[in-house]
Amino acid sequence: MKIPLFKIYWDREDIEAMNKSIKRGMNWASGPNIEKFEKLIAKYVGRKYAVVLNSGTSALHALLIAYGIGKEDEIIVPSFTFIATANAPLFVGAKPVFADIEDVTYGLDPEDVKKKITSKTKVIMPVHYGGAVCKEIKELQILAKKHKLLLIEDAAESFGARLDNKKTGTFGGVAMFSFCQTKVFTTGEGGCIVTDSKDISEKLKLIRSHGRAEDKNYFSNKEYMDYLSLGYNFRMPDCIASLGISQIKKVQKLIKIRRDKAKYMTSILSELKLDDIIIPKFPPNLYHIHQEYHIRVKSGEKTRNLLKEYLAKKGIGTRISFPPIHLSHFYKNILGYSDKLNITEKISSQTLTLPLYPVLTKEEMDYIGKEIKIFFKKNF
Ligand SMILES: Cc1ncc(COP(=O)(O)O)c(C=O)c1O
Repeated sequence: MKIPLFKIYWDREDIEAMNKSIKRGMNWASGPNIEKFEKLIAKYVGRKYAVVLNSGTSALHALLIAYGIGKEDEIIVPSFTFIATANAPLFVGAKPVFADIEDVTYGLDPEDVKKKITSKTKVIMPVHYGGAVCKEIKELQILAKKHKLLLIEDAAESFGARLDNKKTGTFGGVAMFSFCQTKVFTTGEGGCIVTDSKDISEKLKLIRSHGRAEDKNYFSNKEYMDYLSLGYNFRMPDCIASLGISQIKKVQKLIKIRRDKAKYMTSILSELKLDDIIIPKFPPNLYHIHQEYHIRVKSGEKTRNLLKEYLAKKGIGTRISFPPIHLSHFYKNILGYSDKLNITEKISSQTLTLPLYPVLTKEEMDYIGKEIKIFFKKNF
């Protein structure tokens, strides 16, 4: 690909941080960088505690265990998301129940969520999509409070995004972020949970490390360290946390670059005046971090797929984020889901994610715009 869908931003400080960790020749697993990274995350987000783990998926899994969610429980999730959002309830024996989304920020639609609440519902789990904040997050908060449900923000894709100046990760009882390689800052793989509850943060630390009380470094400590609960190995390695520290220090700069690039991309696409393309437009009170930049093809799936193929031939990487989960083979044919989610299905059939990342150049964005224009001229 001439222009891949994403490129990771890295610099000399990242290399030096990793170098330093590697050269210690010890403490690659547990070490001092974990807590340091957690403190930086908690401070940035504005929560009392952060617990880092080896992926966002582990984070979702661990937090459902920490809250005692299990068999017979239902969790309301969107279908327009990455598969891990819906799979996490299954990991603990609970049932993901799909609700439809609104068509501006593609967050859960409170009206449809209301319809899906039953006596078994324990959690509402909205996803902040692609760098946005769910535009209806305050309604979802009210709904959760009214029905005494836990609100978990799947903020995997939206670290640093804000609605009315309130950051993602501060709307729910608890929230999770992913640091996988496409995210606004990254540790390759990694994830995190933020909360104001000391009790939950302590439970999470047990769950991520075999149920072991981690008050000392297990690998250098010679005394017996007791096992207090069932746990997994969901730990983030210390050397990876050192990369996280180096990356999070520049997150505000990276967000600003992304926002500027998204603005430029929008100006190019707007100038094309193509009737079949919907360019993203967000409410003015939303501070979008543009982890993704997507367009929608009004006429739907067939044209969208042809455009995707055409751009691939021109060396431009794109992706469909996301095909609806309820229509996947696993959910439809193996688990037997038969939902009809009109907005989810419509948006999924139209959406196309274009490249957008800090080192993407103006010339590359001009080229993407030019090729989109040629495609529509040739085909219509
Ligand atoms: C919305 C959403 N939830 C959960 C995850 C899972 O995170 P991870 O890939 O770090 O396991 C992702 C993936 O990036 C995601 O986009």
